[in-house]
Amino acid sequence: MKKKSIIIGIESSCDETAVSIIRNRYVLSNIIISQKIHKEYGGVVPELASRLHDKNIIRAVHQAFHYAKIKRNQIDAVSFTLGPGLIGSLLVGASFAKSFSMGLGIPLLTVNHVQAHILAHFIQNANISNSYPRFPFLGLVISGGHTQIIEVNDFFQMKILGTTLDDSVGEALDKIARILGFHYPGGPMIEFFSKNGNCKKFVFSKPSVDELNFSFSGLKSNILQFIQKKSKKNPFFIKKNLSDLCASIQKIIAEILLEKVHKATIKTGIFRVALSGGVSANNEIRNMFISLTKREKKWEIFIPKKKYATDNGAMIAITGLLKYEKKLFDSIHVTPYSQFKKF
Ligand code: KG4
Ligand code: ZN
Repeated sequence: MKKKSIIIGIESSCDETAVSIIRNRYVLSNIIISQKIHKEYGGVVPELASRLHDKNIIRAVHQAFHYAKIKRNQIDAVSFTLGPGLIGSLLVGASFAKSFSMGLGIPLLTVNHVQAHILAHFIQNANISNSYPRFPFLGLVISGGHTQIIEVNDFFQMKILGTTLDDSVGEALDKIARILGFHYPGGPMIEFFSKNGNCKKFVFSKPSVDELNFSFSGLKSNILQFIQKKSKKNPFFIKKNLSDLCASIQKIIAEILLEKVHKATIKTGIFRVALSGGVSANNEIRNMFISLTKREKKWEIFIPKKKYATDNGAMIAITGLLKYEKKLFDSIHVTPYSQFKKF
């Protein structure tokens, strides 16, 4: 019988210190220590983030072993996020993973964070249909750092078809949320307050961007200026219209994403689509994609469970596992990178 592989995954690219242990594709533990400190700053403060990773990583690893009921010497390989992300934060995870690999004499596996968001769908029961997407499929990565449409031909054969030319969708949502008076991260707050709102009350114009690329900076500025102008005339404008504003903002973002993915399906002839990244936790966006599959029978849509949509260690561990199976080991001399590199 084939030996089961046990992999530990370490994620520290932004504001979550996340550690997971998986046995084959099953998650044994998935620990996330979120850094609440950034709430009051309206965004992630890099220096504070790296200090907190340093403070929390050992605790996260201990908890991951405890919940997995696994001993150190049972681990076959250690995987960690090499980039993209905040360099100081990445260095904490990288240093830990390298020491761990050297101490135990086990292989080291580096992980691209964006690729890991997509490969999270290969965790057992990771999405709401509880099935793996078949190749080829389109990955829509929507997070605080990235907005990309990616053609996925195999685990490690990915091609970017479209990307944002400026802000990521999550970044735009977080900045809009700030003017509405919400703390960071603002995406979940916009979703929460949109619940009883009228999504048709405020109409914002969609950016016109070539091909399969995105742009959210213009839309963000239009919304910010609109709110500022209205608030000047009526200081209670936001308070009075909060739900309608949130619902209208959420709707236009969901429509932009859906339209681009629709275009990508026509262009590629690939009608399997897997959503990933923190923004894919949004119910309005999920529902819009789900309702499209009801109208267009060719479409097959994969929606991640929320715990695997936002940053987590299990997506790093599964990517590590898939690399481990192909013996794609890395040297301990690798260095983290902040900007997106090619896959
Ligand atoms: O994937 P993620 O956890 O971290 C990055 O890789 O960036 O994504 C974080 C982003 C933030 O911008 C946050 O506001 C957004 O995901 N987000 C949401 C929701 N949950 C998280 N946006 C809209 N609705 C949500 N429910
Ligand atoms: Zn992420």
